[in-house]
Amino acid sequence: MQLRHATAVAVAVIVLLFSATSNAHNVTRILAKYPEFSTFNHYLSETHLADDINQRETITVCAVDNTGMSDLLAKHLSISGIKNVLSLHVLLDYFDAKKLHQITNGTALAATMYQATGSAAGSSGFVNITDLKGGKVGFSPQDNSGVIHATFVKSVDEIPYNISVIQISNVLPSTEAEAPTPTPSQQNLTAIMSSHGCKVFAETLLANPAEKTFEDAVGGGLTIFCPGDDAMKNFLPKYKNLTAAGKQSLLEFHGMPVYQTLSGLKSSNGLTNTLATDGANKYDFTVQNDGTEVTVKTKLVTAKIVNNIFNEQPLAIFSLNKVLIPEELFKLAPTPAPAPAPEADADSPTPSKKKHKSPPAPAAPSDSPADSPDGDPADQTADNNGSVGYNGGRFAAVILTLWFVFSQL
Ligand SMILES: *[C@@H]1O[C@H](CO)[C@@H](O)[C@H](O)[C@H]1NC(C)=O
Ligand SMILES: *[C@@H]1O[C@H](CO)[C@@H](O)[C@H](O)[C@H]1NC(C)=O
Ligand SMILES: *[C@@H]1O[C@H](CO)[C@@H](O)[C@H](O)[C@H]1NC(C)=O
Ligand SMILES: *[C@@H]1O[C@H](CO)[C@@H](O)[C@H](O)[C@H]1NC(C)=O
Ligand SMILES: *[C@@H]1O[C@H](CO)[C@@H](O)[C@H](O)[C@H]1NC(C)=O
Ligand SMILES: *[C@@H]1O[C@H](CO)[C@@H](O)[C@H](O)[C@H]1NC(C)=O
Ligand SMILES: *[C@@H]1O[C@H](CO)[C@@H](O)[C@H](O)[C@H]1NC(C)=O
Repeated sequence: MQLRHATAVAVAVIVLLFSATSNAHNVTRILAKYPEFSTFNHYLSETHLADDINQRETITVCAVDNTGMSDLLAKHLSISGIKNVLSLHVLLDYFDAKKLHQITNGTALAATMYQATGSAAGSSGFVNITDLKGGKVGFSPQDNSGVIHATFVKSVDEIPYNISVIQISNVLPSTEAEAPTPTPSQQNLTAIMSSHGCKVFAETLLANPAEKTFEDAVGGGLTIFCPGDDAMKNFLPKYKNLTAAGKQSLLEFHGMPVYQTLSGLKSSNGLTNTLATDGANKYDFTVQNDGTEVTVKTKLVTAKIVNNIFNEQPLAIFSLNKVLIPEELFKLAPTPAPAPAPEADADSPTPSKKKHKSPPAPAAPSDSPADSPDGDPADQTADNNGSVGYNGGRFAAVILTLWFVFSQL
């Protein structure tokens, strides 16, 4: 009886320990079992599409065997061209063999990851799936004037409603996807952000010299964190209160002068410089892996990555659910109890507002970046000790539980 109880606890603890970090699916691992898809699998990783696929649920990957891939490689496309073509092979819906053969009215349009990147013009990011005579299923890019070039071959792997990997006979042809793409340094950063839910941030950036800082940084590698429109709109009153130098620093605080993929961010937990970092003005933040989520944390706010809206070496753009608030520009609230402050912040939907309004001294409106260091070191110590204590405590609890459990066995 006691033994069974202990076993249950052990299982619960182990599940708790690993559930936060285990991925629902890993397309690289799924395809690795089939040597005939090794080229396709190689290019999914090379183009970082594998990361994007693993991030999503309810997805279908239309794999092409090595012979089919050699036709594509013979076209000598750039890596971004290959990425566009392959992203057309990732359908943003779940189609297993059964569903493919039972499509309502015999035809359906599926949005693809190519559509989701925003680089697909018109209908070129959609794939038309058609049930053909004799139980065959045809696949064709929507802009391919109805000619069907590829058919369903077989189901490779199915994890119901999360990911379906199927084989299709050929690479889907698309002049649009194969066309040379502008290199990231020729991309219009603000246009990309605007079309992916960060219009307010993009417009704010366009009206500020910080825009040039971002553009100049792309060549050497750049990761941008752009707050979504709701977050940025709520923050605008505070933004307008900043000095010109403060505004520029705040915007530059949202850029990291290195190129990082999502998986790179996940494994790089630590303090990071930003475009605003300048000598004594640290303007740094912490990127943290929080279960399956990645957060960007300052002492005043914890923002979550919502979406990877652009990813092509040397440029990555991620959207956030909050504006990153640097302590250099906004005074920390005087907190008598050290630990609770960052916790409350992380959970509150509009933490910046709450944080800056509640204490007697609100966010210093016209703080220049140099104004605030006075109260900081103490707060920093308190924060650091607080979080270390919390993590250490949990870790110790887990060890104790495990010890208890195994001593019972
Ligand atoms: C599907 O994905 C969800 C969310 O990531 C996960 O909880 C679930 O276990 C997955 N299902 C399977 C069958 O792997
Ligand atoms: C997916 O699987 C591959 C091969 O097993 C491994 O190298 C990679 O790290 C895995 N990715 C994730 C996100 O777990
Ligand atoms: C199927 O066809 C019928 C009749 O043309 C139409 O009303 C219906 O919306 C179609 N369903 C789908 C899912 O396209
Ligand atoms: C898909 O293509 C077929 C053949 O050209 C066409 O008849 C059908 O209407 C298309 N389906 C959709 C949903 O556009
Ligand atoms: C980039 O796009 C914005 C609109 O989002 C436009 O105002 C700006 O002029 C463009 N910049 C360049 C360099 O084309
Ligand atoms: C902006 O500054 C003014 C004057 O210092 C202050 O009264 C106001 O509360 C500030 N607004 C915000 C949103 O911080
Ligand atoms: C934080 O840790 C430092 C060094 O470990 C220690 O000297 C200091 O007293 C601690 N502060 C608090 C508030 O616990």
